[in-house]
Amino acid sequence: MGRAAALLFAAEGAAIAAVDINEAAAVDTAQRVTSQGGRALGIRADVSKSADVKQMFARTVTEFGRLDIVYNNAAIIEEKTQLEDFDDDDFDRVIAVNLRGVYLGMKYALPHLIAAGGGAIINTGSIAGFTSFRGSPAYTAAKAGVVALTKVAGLQWGKHKIRVNAICPGPVFTPMAEGIHRRMTGRELRPTTRMPMSASGRMAMPEEVARVALFLASEDSSYINATPITVDGGWGV
Ligand SMILES: NC(=O)c1ccc[n+]([C@@H]2O[C@H](COP(=O)([O-])OP(=O)(O)OC[C@H]3O[C@@H](n4cnc5c(N)ncnc54)[C@H](O)[C@@H]3O)[C@@H](O)[C@H]2O)c1
Repeated sequence: MGRAAALLFAAEGAAIAAVDINEAAAVDTAQRVTSQGGRALGIRADVSKSADVKQMFARTVTEFGRLDIVYNNAAIIEEKTQLEDFDDDDFDRVIAVNLRGVYLGMKYALPHLIAAGGGAIINTGSIAGFTSFRGSPAYTAAKAGVVALTKVAGLQWGKHKIRVNAICPGPVFTPMAEGIHRRMTGRELRPTTRMPMSASGRMAMPEEVARVALFLASEDSSYINATPITVDGGWGV
């Protein structure tokens, strides 16, 4: 999903810092952006570590001169499904990446966004945060937390001309969704796999989420702040 957004934002003229704990993935996204004529930097960072997050923003500002938009989108999901089977570390790691990562991605972006005169932060929640997926206790808790944190940050930072919103996707055809589907059904996920829980009957493609992120990053959404937006084809959350 992050890569699709990077390519769309770059096509709209943004310079991109593609960040991932998987350096090869970050560099690959950056190369795809430059090969379509954009400006990009691939950065390895673990979003759960404050030192990594500080350095990713510092490198971005050194390279491009300013920071206008932050898309806090990285996340993981646990493999264990039952709360009682969790080791404490299993729980902590999901919260560290999915919730603390968003907190750090906002906190250390703030001085740079203020220096730029304002900006937009987009966090990624999930419909799991509203509907409580019964097989993903830590993920669900973290995503509910992302929505809460988004609202508070948006209310606190409106005075800096910074809008903070969250996209809460339903099922989207990505490697994360492929992994979950394989674990749950033993079968391969395809873009055409039916999703009966969504009124649309299907998954989203990452580009459909990227267009919402672009809207939230742009002045087209100038009066939307502190708001979670579901992108789920109609799930009824
Ligand atoms: N795919 C879905 O159906 C779906 C549904 C709802 C919400 N989401 C959310 O959308 C976002 C994007 O998910 P996706 O489906 O593209 O997942 P993905 O697994 O395909 O991509 C997530 C990326 O995050 C990176 N990452 C993991 N841990 C990291 C860390 N500690 N630091 C930096 N990078 C790290 C991974 O290397 C990977 O490239 C996530 O927040 C996810 O929870 C996904």
